[in-house]
Amino acid sequence: MDKLLIRGGRPLVGEVPISGAKNAALPELCAALLTADPVTLHNVPRLQDVATMLRLIRNMGVQVDRIANPDCSVADAAGIVRLDAGGLSTPEAPYDLVKTMRASVLALGPLLARFGEATVSLPGGCAIGSRPVDQHIKGLQAMGAQIVVEHGYMIARLPQGCTRLRGARITTDMVTVTGTENLLMAATLAEGETVLENAAQEPEVADLAEMLIKMGARIQGHGTSRVRIQGVERLHGCEHAVVADRIEAGTFLCAVAATGGDALLRHGRADHLDAVIDKLRDAGVQVAPEEGGIRVRSPGAAQLKAQGFRTTEYPGFPTDMQAQFMALNVVAQGTATVAETIFENRFMHVNELLRLGAKIQTTDGRVAVIEGLGGAAPTGARLSGATVMATDLRASASLVIAGLVADGETLVDRIYHLDRGYDCMEAKLRGLGANIERIQ
Ligand code: UD1
Repeated sequence: MDKLLIRGGRPLVGEVPISGAKNAALPELCAALLTADPVTLHNVPRLQDVATMLRLIRNMGVQVDRIANPDCSVADAAGIVRLDAGGLSTPEAPYDLVKTMRASVLALGPLLARFGEATVSLPGGCAIGSRPVDQHIKGLQAMGAQIVVEHGYMIARLPQGCTRLRGARITTDMVTVTGTENLLMAATLAEGETVLENAAQEPEVADLAEMLIKMGARIQGHGTSRVRIQGVERLHGCEHAVVADRIEAGTFLCAVAATGGDALLRHGRADHLDAVIDKLRDAGVQVAPEEGGIRVRSPGAAQLKAQGFRTTEYPGFPTDMQAQFMALNVVAQGTATVAETIFENRFMHVNELLRLGAKIQTTDGRVAVIEGLGGAAPTGARLSGATVMATDLRASASLVIAGLVADGETLVDRIYHLDRGYDCMEAKLRGLGANIERIQ
């Protein structure tokens, strides 16, 4: 199992390219299932989750061609993927593939809408919480689908005599990102109008809608909490570039801030990171949109002020940035309270950060109080390197940030979590001057 060895203490300086967003690429790969024409996606990040999704749709009979970018430097590849679902033979997502990646459930809506049937494994539990998919099922049922759960699979079909889903007004019980995406994709081929109320407003949902519009879908209001879709009979192929990954950009913002660095995050979209950037500025970090990216300058963690926040849906503070910002708080000055409201078990990085010398107290798994070490700098209290274990994707990134500031060597074990969602993270960090290597 690969590990990352980090020798901390160097400020991150220079330029780093931000890749396409994992959470946009995954639904967009599934959107290709909606048409028999070829679809070409640009700026697809090289991630384990993307590889899993490609395996999943190949397994259905979709032709997948990865077109390497011959001009790419190590950490700056915009992958091109061409998908042809014209010969799709098996509208099925088996447990073996789904269990490794929850987002596989995104195949359900498109398969059902185009073929009138789909069999998709239930994803099961996941490290950060129970994460049910009841809202996906409820929404598709409102559109006329008959769905039964048998032997761990969701078996969905249209009623006898029906050839298409039918439009419906759907209000989900909570804001769900992949739920909105599944229903949005399904609605593009339904008969009549679908209105999604309480829809997720994340930029990845809006980017998916933009892609679907290029395919001939009729969608209004994407990026707001009410999305209207007029179903069409068929969609056609398209070319689309995946939007930049705001969570990868946010992770680099925190890493540069924590190490007292100065960097340009190329292709980064500051307008997708308002809540995080506001907190960084309040902490004392300079962040500014610049031609072609985001500039970040930090006076060093010991000069920064720890910031409290609550995770909420977009445009609020993203749960996917909670762990990384906590690593910054750990080394800043003052005390901050962080509340996680989206997932029930998303503080697994806390115990690992404690192993590095952080001062954090948690109550009921939802609230963490961080006493920053920055204020204690004159007395010599600092993070000190140790072996730590990555437990989920964003927790891993938080440990890497902590390792970059800790004294001595930090060994981050189980970094397959990191590889699921970060494109060449260690190469990108090395490009900014970090002393980091992968040990196999
Ligand atoms: C997506 C993101 C993930 C991010 C999360 C929240 C992808 C591939 N993943 O995950 O990185 O952390 O949004 O921003 O885009 N819920 C239900 N029933 C449902 C659906 C959701 O109870 O049918 C609950 C979940 O358990 C959770 C909350 O709703 O507590 C939000 O989850 P959701 O937005 O659906 O997360 P994902 O789409 O799985």
